[in-house]
Amino acid sequence: MMIRGYEEIDENSWLRCRVLSFLDTSYYDKVLKQKPRYEKGSIELVAANGEEIVGLIDIELDALPGDICSDPERRGGLIRHLAVHPDHRRQGIGSLLLIEALGRARTAGMQYLEAWIRDDQWVRDWCAGSGFRLVDSYLQVYVDGEEDLKGLVESKIPQLHPVSVFAHYTGSDKAYILSKFTRVHEMSRFDLDLTDWDDN
Ligand SMILES: CC(C)(COP(=O)(O)OP(=O)(O)OC[C@H]1O[C@@H](n2cnc3c(N)ncnc32)[C@H](O)[C@@H]1OP(=O)(O)O)[C@@H](O)C(=O)NCCC(=O)NCCS
Repeated sequence: MMIRGYEEIDENSWLRCRVLSFLDTSYYDKVLKQKPRYEKGSIELVAANGEEIVGLIDIELDALPGDICSDPERRGGLIRHLAVHPDHRRQGIGSLLLIEALGRARTAGMQYLEAWIRDDQWVRDWCAGSGFRLVDSYLQVYVDGEEDLKGLVESKIPQLHPVSVFAHYTGSDKAYILSKFTRVHEMSRFDLDLTDWDDN
């Protein structure tokens, strides 16, 4: 197994690794058919076992503070994708990908990494154990079925009937939202400060 830069030839294996890695998480239905491309700076690494991709990390880099990441004062790298194939987890691959990526991010002038994690406790634990700290959170809400949508969302186009809605809730009454809807995810921002990172 080696950590190296992503190459075009990796795309199919990258997509398979990603979809399998998210099956047992709250992102289980967020499927990609193409590997995302980034117009600005990025770090795209894979853990390769021969031709098979068993881990991946994509980080999109701020050209200026606040370009991509949330902090308007510091340049950061936003972790767009981080995943390890379920058959290869807990072998240190996620940590190796992160360490290689954060070294490159520091070299590129980034001051922190930003990750947005849903409510998978073991992933949050991995983040906390890797030095990230919780900064902020909001709720992501799925509403399915015309009955649940009544009085909530209306279409202005005749004969167009919404049957499904995905919404962000940034208010303070999280308990109400959690009690009202069946599928609600807490989306949390975790930051990793790179300025005091010890490369040794
Ligand atoms: C989070 C993730 C990248 C970690 O990769 P990894 O290679 O398994 O992690 P490492 O081997 O570096 O670290 C292992 C540690 O992570 C945690 N961990 C990883 N998988 C776990 C699991 N299934 N259950 C509990 N803890 C787990 C534990 O703390 C573990 O340490 P331990 O084995 O000593 O208990 C990987 O589990 C994954 O792909 N998760 C699903 C995708 C995802 O949610 N990505 C983040 C959103 S961007």
